[in-house]
Amino acid sequence: MTRCTVSFKVNGRASEITVEPRQSLAEALRTELNLTGTHLGCEHGVCGACTVLVGGEPIRGCLMFAVQAQDLDITTIEGLNGATGLTPLQESFRRHHALQCGFCTPGMVLTLHALLARAPAADAAAIREAISGNLCRCTGYQPIVEAALAVAADAARGMTQGPDNRKGGQNGAVGESS
Ligand code: FES
Ligand code: FES
Repeated sequence: MTRCTVSFKVNGRASEITVEPRQSLAEALRTELNLTGTHLGCEHGVCGACTVLVGGEPIRGCLMFAVQAQDLDITTIEGLNGATGLTPLQESFRRHHALQCGFCTPGMVLTLHALLARAPAADAAAIREAISGNLCRCTGYQPIVEAALAVAADAARGMTQGPDNRKGGQNGAVGESS
């Protein structure tokens, strides 16, 4: 089958991969770039496990072809790094026990990262709305909401500048697993 070359930016780095036209972005990130923090669950747009950021906005990596990523700026969970290794949101997930098996966590973190980047003091309703497309089979969602609310409360108090601590590195991030 004909393969296509795709040039794009992933976690701040210029990347080039060669893929089959049918290959999803999520699959390509995992297999071609070894970014296995992007999980594949349902593979048809329901669970949100495959969420990555495109130009800062969350999208379903299983519903986008890798070839559609030409010239785009992609952020995966591996691209989130705070001053101490974790972003404030990831640190808050850890503090609030907002992950158990961790399968949903990269998608949850990236979805909430995008929300808190545009609405740093988001309330519980906005947080619940943001993650309404991300399924979690373990936590019951409440710890995830509490983790995001804690970051929003810090932002409201002026203690942080929101979650945008992306540096483009690839050291271990909360939610990063294969
Ligand atoms: Fe993409 Fe479930 S794997 S939404
Ligand atoms: Fe297991 Fe969310 S922590 S699915």
